[in-house]
Amino acid sequence: MSDVAAQIAALEDAGQNELAAALAGLSGGRRKKLSAQVAELDLGLIGSLVDRFVTAGEGEAALGEVTEAPTIPLPADAEAERAEADARSAGENLLRSDRVSAVLLAGGQGSRLGFDGPKGNYPFAPITARTLFSHHAAKIAALRERYGCSLPWYILTSPQNNDVTRASFEEAGWFGLDPDSIRFVIQGTLPAVDARTGAILREAPDRLALSPDGHGGLLSALRRSGALDEMSDSGITTMFTFQVDNPLVRVCRPEFLGYHAQAGADMSNTAVRKVAPEEKMGVVARVDGRPGVVEYSDLPDELAEMRNPDGELTYWAGSIAVHCIEVAFARSLTDGGLKLPYHRALKKVPHVGADGKQVTPDEPNAIKFETFLFDALPAADASITIEAAREDEFAPIKNADGVDSAESARLLLNDLYARWFEAAGLAVPRDADGAPPDLEIDPRFALDAAELAAKLPPGFVVDGPLALGLDEGPTTAR
Ligand code: UD1
Repeated sequence: MSDVAAQIAALEDAGQNELAAALAGLSGGRRKKLSAQVAELDLGLIGSLVDRFVTAGEGEAALGEVTEAPTIPLPADAEAERAEADARSAGENLLRSDRVSAVLLAGGQGSRLGFDGPKGNYPFAPITARTLFSHHAAKIAALRERYGCSLPWYILTSPQNNDVTRASFEEAGWFGLDPDSIRFVIQGTLPAVDARTGAILREAPDRLALSPDGHGGLLSALRRSGALDEMSDSGITTMFTFQVDNPLVRVCRPEFLGYHAQAGADMSNTAVRKVAPEEKMGVVARVDGRPGVVEYSDLPDELAEMRNPDGELTYWAGSIAVHCIEVAFARSLTDGGLKLPYHRALKKVPHVGADGKQVTPDEPNAIKFETFLFDALPAADASITIEAAREDEFAPIKNADGVDSAESARLLLNDLYARWFEAAGLAVPRDADGAPPDLEIDPRFALDAAELAAKLPPGFVVDGPLALGLDEGPTTAR
């Protein structure tokens, strides 16, 4: 669809008359610009989504029968500890034998945080103001060092944030990592459509209102970019996927990799206990007998609030969006196009109206379409879910303040590092509420409590805020 006249005809055939007229009305560079975006549209897909969600007015697909998913609980006795130790060594073997890649989801828009730029550039750390990207990079470096592995790092970006993301890695000297060991994979986009008419919206006269196609787009982006082939060719069998907004994430946690491998699983989950029924986390569950995650917006209140006789939430298993995914499984899901369902989200999308005037809506006016990575789970023949200790693995930064913010993450990270120091036999000062001072530990200095205990010089004292292994700067580490 490179010829503009053919594009206009195709848009008209697809019922996208407003966009066809807009394209016809432009000339020169602006026409070229809009035409280049139109050329990328999958009008067949958009048409079927509009038919379903706008014309037929369907909501999300009806939720099947939800039942509890089996989970591997935190070890509570010696036998479970032995099983965990076995899983750890299986996972460590996978890492040492170079069969694992790390895949970071960073293509989202981070609109709730109100931070201008890729969320990974958010300076979350209280003392050094280091960024999320810098912190994740330090974990990758530490894992490579510990296991003597290449651990290639794939980062999902979107057309909207790829260039800035890449530039920030370049500026930071790739955080000390070999640039060839990091690969940005750009996800696809879909246009927002008018919620009443299904018309494709433009954010400017010569620009469509495009947004990332959801993190399910990871799979097609990996396939399209050749990353899956590259992984297979270099012997990588398993991807460890994680989200940019969780500084507490235990990247490539060997126990998780090990349990996943021992079960011969295609795709697996990490879950933590939800703090309240209404917490905005997807829950790991079975849906019609298949593995799955039910997104918080889809879980009926009566299931979210259901409790077992011991008072625990029946659906306690909050997904922290940390998965192991087999490369072969990702390939099977992308053979002949991505096989994931689309979701709709009603949003406020400023746009240019048919009359050429800018519209700034007060109410949600548009539908955005997305696929979710966890919707791949039902296709998995085998899948495991491990429970993780929430205080050790989950500190999401989603909002500017309050719940799931940089402030709540700061307290959680301070608490984690204080516990590591205490486990090493040190006293940590705490205020009247029991909160320790601001503490930072570079993952390259210590990835866990045992490494910290082994590396602390004799006589080390924690008497106030402290950044261990870090210079006071946004991104550097000693
Ligand atoms: C997400 C999960 C939720 C989980 C919670 C845990 C979804 C739909 N929901 O909620 O089940 O319990 O995290 O923290 O994921 N991203 C992309 N491309 C996109 C969209 C998102 O790469 O097109 C990335 C973001 O950069 C981010 C992650 O996916 O790293 C999560 O996206 P977000 O939309 O913030 O999901 P949540 O609603 O926070």
